[in-house]
Amino acid sequence: MRISIIGCGYLGAVYAASMASIGHDVLGLDVDQDKIDGLNQGRAPFHEPGFDKVLAQSLESGRLRFSTEYADAADYEAHVICVGTPQQVDAAGADLTYVHAAVDSLIPHLSDSDVVLGRSTVPVGTASSLVERLRAAGSQAVLAWNPEFLREGFAVKDTLHPDRLVYGLPEDPAEAARAREVLDAMYAPMLEAETPLVVGNYATAELVKGAANSFLATKISFINAVAEVCEATGADVSVIAEAIGLDDRIGPKFLRAGIGFGGGCLPKDIRAFMARAGELGVTEALGFLREVDHVNNRRRDHVVNMARKALDGSFTGKRIAVLGAAFKPDSDDTRQSPALYIASKLSGRGADVVVTDPAANQRVHAERPNLAIAEDAYAAATGADIVLLLTEWQQFKDLDPVKLREVVTTPHMIDGRNVLDPAQWREAGWTYQSMGRP
Ligand code: UDX
Repeated sequence: MRISIIGCGYLGAVYAASMASIGHDVLGLDVDQDKIDGLNQGRAPFHEPGFDKVLAQSLESGRLRFSTEYADAADYEAHVICVGTPQQVDAAGADLTYVHAAVDSLIPHLSDSDVVLGRSTVPVGTASSLVERLRAAGSQAVLAWNPEFLREGFAVKDTLHPDRLVYGLPEDPAEAARAREVLDAMYAPMLEAETPLVVGNYATAELVKGAANSFLATKISFINAVAEVCEATGADVSVIAEAIGLDDRIGPKFLRAGIGFGGGCLPKDIRAFMARAGELGVTEALGFLREVDHVNNRRRDHVVNMARKALDGSFTGKRIAVLGAAFKPDSDDTRQSPALYIASKLSGRGADVVVTDPAANQRVHAERPNLAIAEDAYAAATGADIVLLLTEWQQFKDLDPVKLREVVTTPHMIDGRNVLDPAQWREAGWTYQSMGRP
């Protein structure tokens, strides 16, 4: 298949390189010239394990190239919208500016046998409105919705070996058949490998994504709410998570209590889902997601309060080492990062904060110049009055409490991700606190 991919962020760039790696001819389009130049030279614009390799191999094969010229898309038959849908600046809903711009820029270069596929996460009803946009501009191209579910840190694996494929097809049987033909050809190796395929209409496919991310967010906030109860009782949330996770109706995944979820997806997706429900007159149906969001935000503030108490009520003149800035390990993404939120809050309250992250240091330096950056955990912790582990990178999980103790002023650790062994750290002389564990 000849596929153009519009938007070369975390989703589109990985998708472009991965689709080329399974034999398709792929064009990646983006308006950012620097990003496109870098990608054409094999430079990844973000940290994503395995991406550099698949990018290099796909460029080498001659089946992948990147461009800023929409006119180049004219030679391709499937066009996949992978642009971002961030939260609106002054409202909870999703900002569709980039989706609309992508479709409008594509329209002059579409032929009527082309298929446009949406992969961006959008509010329900967007696909239908995009069809109207296409038709109003005189294009008869077929539109289908094909949500993605990739996790950062596993983006290549999730793209090449997805749990499931979802097709949202048009009502018209001939259009649906054309969309299906293109989708089946694009995903032939995945279908051959018996990846489950779920087919519905536009609204269903759009809602699958909102529902999946809301469920995941709810699961995390659920266990974090239980952690709050544990903190009031002396119970251990990690033992509770283990025990309830053994019930296969519940399952053990996404039950890690800590400082909550962040990133470019879950926080904005639950808000956009609620906002859309409001527009549709079913606000109450998703009212619980407001609570999910509140629980999540409370965990961040809880860590700030724990640190304040540990420092005898004042941050002034106190040195705080923050281990981690990315919203999760194996990523340099700091969007809605709980770690960065906490670091900024502490700094705003007068603490001398030193942050270190194995992949996000440069990004933090650019985005939060008020935060000091250190090369590694030992440099960050030197002279610290307290150490906060906020992103569970392997490097931090492997820290030697005896060695780290030698560099700090006060051996006090707040483990925001419940990943260190309490007994080992206490034995090494640390005051050790974690989330929802005695
Ligand atoms: C998420 C969805 O998993 C993915 O399917 C969707 O396509 C995009 O959004 P991602 O944002 O990459 O993916 O991160 P994910 O692995 O889901 O983690 C989200 C956040 O939840 C992270 O901040 C992580 O630290 C946190 N988390 C996850 C927990 O706090 N506890 C858990 O048990 C799991």
